[in-house]
Amino acid sequence: MDTLRESKAEAQSPFPAARLRRLRRTPALRRLVRETDVSAAHFIYPLFAVPGRRLRREIPSLPGCYHLSPDALAQEAAEVAALGIPAVLLFGLPESKDEVGSGAYAAQGIVQRAVRAIKKAVPDLLVITDICLCEYTSHGHCGVVVDGEVDNDQTLPLLAQTALSHAEAGADIVAPSDMMDGRVAALRAALDERGFAATPIMSYAAKYASAFFGPFREAAGSAPQFGDRRGYQMDPANAREALREVAQDLAEGADMVMVKPALPYLDIIARVRAACDHPLAAYNVSGEYAMLKAAAAKGWLDERLATLEALTAIKRAGADMIITYHAKEAARWLKE
Ligand code: PBG
Ligand code: ZN
Repeated sequence: MDTLRESKAEAQSPFPAARLRRLRRTPALRRLVRETDVSAAHFIYPLFAVPGRRLRREIPSLPGCYHLSPDALAQEAAEVAALGIPAVLLFGLPESKDEVGSGAYAAQGIVQRAVRAIKKAVPDLLVITDICLCEYTSHGHCGVVVDGEVDNDQTLPLLAQTALSHAEAGADIVAPSDMMDGRVAALRAALDERGFAATPIMSYAAKYASAFFGPFREAAGSAPQFGDRRGYQMDPANAREALREVAQDLAEGADMVMVKPALPYLDIIARVRAACDHPLAAYNVSGEYAMLKAAAAKGWLDERLATLEALTAIKRAGADMIITYHAKEAARWLKE
């Protein structure tokens, strides 16, 4: 490996024979040698389902994104598909919450109804559902709380039940985001047993306890009512541990893995890319979106250029797919 690297470096002739600017001179030359392509074909757009009818309310912490009732979601889904975006990632805000997050796995739950509405209106649009309890529990944690702590093993059957009810409603892919140990295996077993062996699992494998989830928690009403998520989400200081999380989820049967957040964790994306050949998603999270929007609103950044540069960086680091609130606007910009 080292000798290859050395010989590669030696193979480059010195200046003035080598002039790296030669291939940067014109847009056509730059396009020809471009290493990374960003395209709407690999975007996943997050959507927030709320109960009601004909409801479309802008989310204050996520300008340009909306709380949508199932009927309005069907319309939004058509717009997303028309932009060439292949998939949405669905979250739900239930009518009521309880200790065990019953709304997450209710047959008539908000996500279940939203999935049916979207699949009926736009059958070819892939619907990925987020599997977690935090939007549905009164305490706002991602699992069942026992003696003040999130209990891993008691949470697993509830997550499996949630995934199953989403698959029954027509979800194309399920995406567990809870960070309980063993959840991928629990989901896989439950899905296989009930006739959903063909439903893929996209696992939030390396999900960090990040301050950049702030705007999302406001949008989803899922902030923990006590403590924080550091007992189950990863420590931002750890990189090697991300590889263990990925290996574990793949061993349990994950079809795709995810790194989240994206921009402050590009090194993690690159390391996971080098460590496995599975499809890799990166979640360009709410705080990353909000920062850019806020700076653009102040006139401090060119929004279009900064957004496309950020998305390019995520792909260049090694992500195959990008989950991003920018998906619709970026798809439009890329068409121009
Ligand atoms: C639920 C979940 C969260 C996000 C996706 N799924 C929040 C959290 O873990 O607190 C964050 C998404 C974003 O910030 O855009 N577990
Ligand atoms: Zn959660």
